[in-house]
Amino acid sequence: MTSAHNDRFASRTEGMTASEIRALFAVASRPEVVSLAGGMPNLAALPLDTLAAQVSELVAKDGLSALQYGSAQGIPLLREQILEVMAEEGIRAHADDVVVTVGSQMALDLVTRLFCDPGDIVLAEGPSYVGALGSFAAYQAQVVHVAMDDDGLQPAALSQALEALATAGRRAKFLYTIPNFHNPAGVTLAVSRRAEILDICRRYDVLVIEDNPYGLLGFDGQTYPSLRSMDPDNVIYLGSFSKTFASGLRVGWALAPPSVRDKLVLAAESAILCPPSFNQMMVSRYLAGHDWRGQIKSFQQTYRVRRDAMLSALSTYLPEGCRWTHPDGGFYVWVTVPEGVDTKAMLPRAVSARVAYASGTGFYADGLGSRQLRLSYCYPTPERITEGVRRLAGVLNAELDVLRTFGTPARTSIRALPGSSVNVRRGPQSPSPDTT
Ligand SMILES: Cc1ncc(COP(=O)(O)O)c(C=O)c1O
Repeated sequence: MTSAHNDRFASRTEGMTASEIRALFAVASRPEVVSLAGGMPNLAALPLDTLAAQVSELVAKDGLSALQYGSAQGIPLLREQILEVMAEEGIRAHADDVVVTVGSQMALDLVTRLFCDPGDIVLAEGPSYVGALGSFAAYQAQVVHVAMDDDGLQPAALSQALEALATAGRRAKFLYTIPNFHNPAGVTLAVSRRAEILDICRRYDVLVIEDNPYGLLGFDGQTYPSLRSMDPDNVIYLGSFSKTFASGLRVGWALAPPSVRDKLVLAAESAILCPPSFNQMMVSRYLAGHDWRGQIKSFQQTYRVRRDAMLSALSTYLPEGCRWTHPDGGFYVWVTVPEGVDTKAMLPRAVSARVAYASGTGFYADGLGSRQLRLSYCYPTPERITEGVRRLAGVLNAELDVLRTFGTPARTSIRALPGSSVNVRRGPQSPSPDTT
């Protein structure tokens, strides 16, 4: 898009581009399209009547503080309660080291702002969370991806990447990792790898950013030892109420060693003065007045049923040569399609066939991922999931037929789709509600 202000923008805005799925959003959000693209939590199980009563009581009893500015670090009571949430995963900490943020996305932004000058290197799993890649791009950091397998990040690949950087006289500022129920890969870092990864990071003097919004959503109620609990001084932990309570309240947090915490508070102050008091007090009341652990159990059951529907549909319908991960928690399955199929090019044809997914390229900073796609089972019903996978299989089969016949995939540009007028630009993307 040309703009009269183009020559005024700071160079960092070059890294800010719209998510490719946003171009399809208008079409993909039509009711007849089954969207397996978005990471929106399923909030139907929330006790809306109880919440309504809590909101009303909050305004009536504590309205003057709930509607007032608060402190940049977040309200003390909520920070204490966050300690109880983190204790579920073995974290022992002090409320002074918790900084409340506007979703963990803001914590990602602040951490990148604190540590990254333009051109600095950050390590991230390949693939990685699109919102994190967007923050890294916005601060002009350079992402080096580290390979994963079914047990998560590979320690050998991490050592290799750090050794190669050291040989080139470079150093990574931090490792960004999502150890549990990875977005988008759907895998979990093996417990046996955790200490080794922390050791490697120590050896190369690399800080660890542990992003853990899904950790309490294991389908058997299982949790894994958090990296922060194993190395409090070298890990910054990011948490969120988005997936375990309500994403619309935008309440997340960072837990950081004191020296980093102080800078985080200053950075938060300059960005937003303080996180919304009302939302924090709402979360606080919910935690104090509702069986939040029971609520999380009910989310686990809902998502387990949906995960089962997706895995079963994938093995029933997907053509030979496709592979996919088997998540035991969280929201996502990562699918690898047969060679020759380009998931980004195929997306408009999938949407025409009334199914949407997130193509793999959005989860890499280096252009990889064209043979992968992410499917989310969190939001649609099991019946819709089955139907969506059936439609996706039809599109894949058609794609493979064309490949077998002509040796090249079919062509349809996103702009050619009815109802889609947004230009698609290349480069690191900003997250949209449909790619979180
Ligand atoms: C891995 C990961 N980190 C961070 C976020 C952002 O969460 P929040 O809603 O707390 O900003 C998401 C959201 O999907 C995510 O998947």
